Amino acid sequence: MTVHCKQDKPDEANRLDQMKQGVIGKPLPRVEGLAKVTGTATYAAEYPADNCAQGVLVTSTITRGKVTSIDKDAALAMPGVIAVIDDQRLTTRAAQGTADEAPQQQPKTVCYWGQPIALVVAETFEQARDAAKHLTVDYHVEEGVPLDPDAVEPEEQEDETVHQGDLAHAMSEAAHSVDVTYTTRGHASAAMEPHAAIAQWDGDKLTVYASLQMLNYNISELADALDMEEDDIRLVSRFVGGGFGSKLGISEEAVAAALAAKELGRPVRVVMSRQQVFQCIMRRSETTQRLRLCTDANGTLTGFGHEALVSNLPGEEFAEPVLQSSHFLYGGENRELMLKVARIHRMTAGSVRAPGEAVGMPALEAAMDVLAEEAGIGPVELRLKNIPEKNPEEGLPFSSHKLAECLQQGAEAFGWDHGPRKPRQTREGEWWVGTGMASAARVHNVSEAKARVTLKADGTAVVETDMTDIGTGTYTILAQLAGEMLGLSPDHVLVDLGDTQHPRGPGSGGSWGAASIGSAVYVACTAIREELASRLGVEEPDLNLSDGKAASGKSIADILDGKDLAREGHYEPGEIADDYTASGFGAFFAQVRVNRFTGETRVDRMLGAFGFGRVLNHTTARSQCLGGITWSIGVALTEALEFDPRDGHLVNPDLAEYHVPVHRDVPDLDVIMVEERDPAASPIQAKGIGELGMCGGAAAIANAIYNASGARVFDFPMTPDRVL
Ligand code: MOS
Repeated sequence: MTVHCKQDKPDEANRLDQMKQGVIGKPLPRVEGLAKVTGTATYAAEYPADNCAQGVLVTSTITRGKVTSIDKDAALAMPGVIAVIDDQRLTTRAAQGTADEAPQQQPKTVCYWGQPIALVVAETFEQARDAAKHLTVDYHVEEGVPLDPDAVEPEEQEDETVHQGDLAHAMSEAAHSVDVTYTTRGHASAAMEPHAAIAQWDGDKLTVYASLQMLNYNISELADALDMEEDDIRLVSRFVGGGFGSKLGISEEAVAAALAAKELGRPVRVVMSRQQVFQCIMRRSETTQRLRLCTDANGTLTGFGHEALVSNLPGEEFAEPVLQSSHFLYGGENRELMLKVARIHRMTAGSVRAPGEAVGMPALEAAMDVLAEEAGIGPVELRLKNIPEKNPEEGLPFSSHKLAECLQQGAEAFGWDHGPRKPRQTREGEWWVGTGMASAARVHNVSEAKARVTLKADGTAVVETDMTDIGTGTYTILAQLAGEMLGLSPDHVLVDLGDTQHPRGPGSGGSWGAASIGSAVYVACTAIREELASRLGVEEPDLNLSDGKAASGKSIADILDGKDLAREGHYEPGEIADDYTASGFGAFFAQVRVNRFTGETRVDRMLGAFGFGRVLNHTTARSQCLGGITWSIGVALTEALEFDPRDGHLVNPDLAEYHVPVHRDVPDLDVIMVEERDPAASPIQAKGIGELGMCGGAAAIANAIYNASGARVFDFPMTPDRVL
């Protein structure tokens, strides 16, 4: 039996606050943690498959053109080689989360250097890898394609454009104004687990073990790619070693494994190399962002301008949504926002952790620091002064809003000095020391979700959905939610995820996972509670379930009388999304030291204060924030994709050359979670948490670099050469 819930109005009287056990929010360790640290959690490439062949992808060595022929003979003559698959479905790229929108590419067309064009299959991985290197591919090369985003006439994304009032006039009349331009470089998702798939056919039925974030969506992508019915496909992805956007959509390893397994009549495993993941999965676009901000004599914003240039392949719909939070974070009645896309032939640009705000917020918040100095106002005070009552463009109220509290509580905990600020005031030996801060914002989204909850006759419960846990804590929070609602200890709730044989979840993406699937589980559990209440002849709120018993003392097992009780919860975002602007908010504070001789920056300490609705588990939520702040350090100081200007190929495609912060780069980080319930954000009053922790943090570091050393840097990452 399915219970449907479409949220159309705020849910003020939420059951979770009335439950007796207090399991929700508890800082429980991850239920799958032991399996992960003991190596018994099964990742995509590790599923046992009898007689499995090994596939290695071959990628293009041209930027643009057509594959005219592939000479397979030399490869096929090599030891252990079974097949070379160059099915055009491999080269016709309909993957990467853009299946509906991807350009209809011509067969065998190459659009970027490093694009997969064939698969070599052998008995062992080493044999396949060796043969892949010996494959001779002939191309028809198209010369002179654009590779530099600054050298082409970009397209305007019209739905992002805002012209409100007269910004140029406001700037000219303003008491204080800044007009500054920032650049950010491309970023990689750099998930620890590379993309991998094992495909296995049983007649016309296909099973693919893969590492994917959104099985609900990936199954239709795969069905499209293979021209199959979804009912004939099963996708399994129980553990995912990080995704960060790179596994939102299917990519060539899954399609290639399925095609090869079909052709060979035996299972095929395809694991991408680290370099392949970097070079052909997707990149975050580089950006150029112009910020125009102006205030009256009191520091109240009168004008707000944010224009951004990003890039992608011709025809790709995704455009890094740089302006997402700029539309509502601060006031200013004269507004000018515009997003443009340059069409170039670097690899596909797509979603990388916190698409939009991850780079838009650092630029905006660095510009706010310049404005604070210009206006002679403290940076915290400038932000507090400019928090709008409602969305300044659409006039919508905010679903909930804790920016002011985050700024105040964060400043207090950090020991922020609200006095006048001047750069280069503190030197310790060869290091200049300084502080900086920034706001955080990341839009809140929810997505349709289904989950089945079964209360078993033995008094335990099972939660089933194809939702994934990408390391974020989904297994744990769903055990907590069902445990809380059904009066069970979370360790009596088995959570079964990552299998399309279960009801469709929302997938893990855009920070919508917990609020969306949590709401589906909540709806299912509410229906179970109603059934139990009716059996006991009490009102549902009076059930008082705890420790496996109802208030009357009767055990759940007795109430069930030997029969399982199952309900499917179906949550759908309702009209409410049109009535409110919903976002997580927060504040970052950082202390850095800058070496006066080398320009090297070290982060001494950093703190984030966040308000993002109900916290379902304080440990997993905090871990998400720590991860986000760590990304902020990377955006600020080290992370940059480097492209060869001659052919657009990525030249730093691994973790040795693309520098993510490592242990030594990350100091003690503090996280404050400001108590908040958001009745309009989701039925469980939770908002998105995952990505907020990296949305603006890089600016706190940039602003601290200025305060420490006096260097105003306008290009991220702020490497020593730029700081000196
Ligand atoms: Mo996220 S970039 O939607 O995984």
